[in-house]
Amino acid sequence: MTNSKKQLNYFITGVSSGIGAELTRQLVDDGHNVFGTGRRIAELLALQSELITCTGKFDFEIGDVLDNGFLEQAKIRFEQKFGGEIDVLIPNAGYVCRGNFTELGAADYKHQLDVNLNSVIRLVDLFMDNIKSNKGQIVFMGSMFATRSLPGFSAYTISKVGIKALAEGLFYELQDSGVAVTLITPGFITSDIRNRGSRGIYTQQKLEQTPQFLEVDTKKAVSVMLKGIKKKKREQVVGFHAVLLIFIMKYFPFPFIFDGCYRLYLSKLSRSAESSEKQ
Ligand SMILES: NC(=O)c1ccc[n+]([C@@H]2O[C@H](COP(=O)([O-])OP(=O)(O)OC[C@H]3O[C@@H](n4cnc5c(N)ncnc54)[C@H](OP(=O)(O)O)[C@@H]3O)[C@@H](O)[C@H]2O)c1
Repeated sequence: MTNSKKQLNYFITGVSSGIGAELTRQLVDDGHNVFGTGRRIAELLALQSELITCTGKFDFEIGDVLDNGFLEQAKIRFEQKFGGEIDVLIPNAGYVCRGNFTELGAADYKHQLDVNLNSVIRLVDLFMDNIKSNKGQIVFMGSMFATRSLPGFSAYTISKVGIKALAEGLFYELQDSGVAVTLITPGFITSDIRNRGSRGIYTQQKLEQTPQFLEVDTKKAVSVMLKGIKKKKREQVVGFHAVLLIFIMKYFPFPFIFDGCYRLYLSKLSRSAESSEKQ
């Protein structure tokens, strides 16, 4: 870090893997301070020892974003560690609850919305005064699937449509206060997200296959995200396929095309699952 560059304080949820872990790596390596959260202690400790020689600092609090008092406790620890001045808040923790409505219960939908949306609202509320007084930035983690709802993904889509609406509203509401609001809209990014069940717990098994050629490497995806964050862009779409798919979903909204493609994709998936079971 050069002398002229300000060392910023970041608070990021969900840094034990994927996008959150890589954001932490690149920021701390660049000399910034990151306070993170997550549930998997081994992964958080490994990240901490990996970053020990960097100029930036990394510390974390372990817990579930839904646990009573956890976010408040994490904020207190952040203030003790980094002096309370927050520059960038990134409520990143999230998971995909897969399944058709009839397979899932209302409790699964509630859990998805509590983790992906309500905990984000709570966290933003918790930090709002500090962010305003520091003229900081809030970065929301959206998804290209906030454009259209696909079968088997409505719970996730509802949560990300909510995030998109929140980011849009706050962008205007906070404009005069000097607070920047950025919405990150990723396509398919390599992470642990496809190894999580309906309550977001990590499993060894991949529960969803994405077209491999579309998946963007985490490192590359995060460096694009950070460029957008540093420029305080209103929205940063990540992945060329995401730009293309969002355009198609927005301007060619023919349900039968999506329905057909999705059924084809599902039948391919079940065929590959059958063949791997036989082997
Ligand atoms: N990867 C993609 O293709 C993609 C695309 C669009 C949007 N996104 C969004 O990007 C964000 C990060 O996901 P990712 O792809 O990096 O997935 P990931 O590797 O599975 O990471 C998810 C992180 O969220 C944490 N988390 C999940 N549920 C939690 C809970 N209840 N309490 C506390 N922490 C929790 C996980 O912590 P533990 O593992 O410790 O439980 C982990 O650190 C999510 O909001 C996701 O919706 C990802």
